Amino acid sequence: MTRLVLPLPGSEALGEGLARALRADLREIESRRFPDGETYVRLPTEVEGREVVLVCTLANPDEQALRLLFSARTARELGAASVTLVAPYLAYMRQDARFQPGEAVTSRHFAELVSREVDRLVTVDPHLHRHASLGEIYAIPAEAVRAAPLIADWIAANVAAPLVVGPDSESDQWVSEVAERAGAPYVVLRKERHGDRDVDISAPDLAAWAGRTPVLVDDIVSSGRTMIEAARRLVDQGFPAPVCVAVHPLFADDAFAELSRLASRIVSTDTVPHPTNAISVVPRIAEALA
Ligand code: R5P
Repeated sequence: MTRLVLPLPGSEALGEGLARALRADLREIESRRFPDGETYVRLPTEVEGREVVLVCTLANPDEQALRLLFSARTARELGAASVTLVAPYLAYMRQDARFQPGEAVTSRHFAELVSREVDRLVTVDPHLHRHASLGEIYAIPAEAVRAAPLIADWIAANVAAPLVVGPDSESDQWVSEVAERAGAPYVVLRKERHGDRDVDISAPDLAAWAGRTPVLVDDIVSSGRTMIEAARRLVDQGFPAPVCVAVHPLFADDAFAELSRLASRIVSTDTVPHPTNAISVVPRIAEALA
């Protein structure tokens, strides 16, 4: 029997693309809020005996997570043969340590909740910093599709004489790979974060790369402070407005408007629906599932 792809609200386009790529059936999950704020979920009954693929990007995690967990539990209760979660953006990966006494290590807690309800997880570039792999916190088979090759190919096709720039040491892991595949040099800036929206970026002397087009690459743009401050440091050194590339375009509050004033172009992958989506991860996710 063919697989059954069920996108959660907000992930419809991803679900449609995936169902097409997998030649799977696509059905809707019905969901709404009761007047008191509780969540109503109804799955198609044909999940029985099927390999179910729930597609749920988690850019609004607290709103989406409960609906996802209810859907996964219901799919199992209705007799699904297996339940796979495709979460192109996987939330709750950044609180990966107890930085202050008493803090919840939510990456671990969230992973435990999800691992109880689904059989397998496929995501794209999860924010792995203090956790070396998803397997450290997820108790189910968990696969991370990498966006770096897609980003590298986009840069090679769209930017002349690029200089790939990572805004902080964490980005070294993907910018080095992006640069190598795009056949471009790369540099990594230094970041100090003092608070959610308080970030200092410093850059070494980049005179050796004068004449190149800077391409800032980061995994997540949330408050935008990292990209914005990094773009400023490049412009301070006389570079043209950078091209900014994000894997996961979260763009909280006015982040997109502010970054738009500094960047020559902003592009992202479609792990989170956003007007900047220019690079599709769907074929890679389909390969991982196949
Ligand atoms: C963490 O360091 C990540 O790689 C990103 O740089 C970070 O999440 C970006 O966050 P923001 O846009 O809030 O600066």
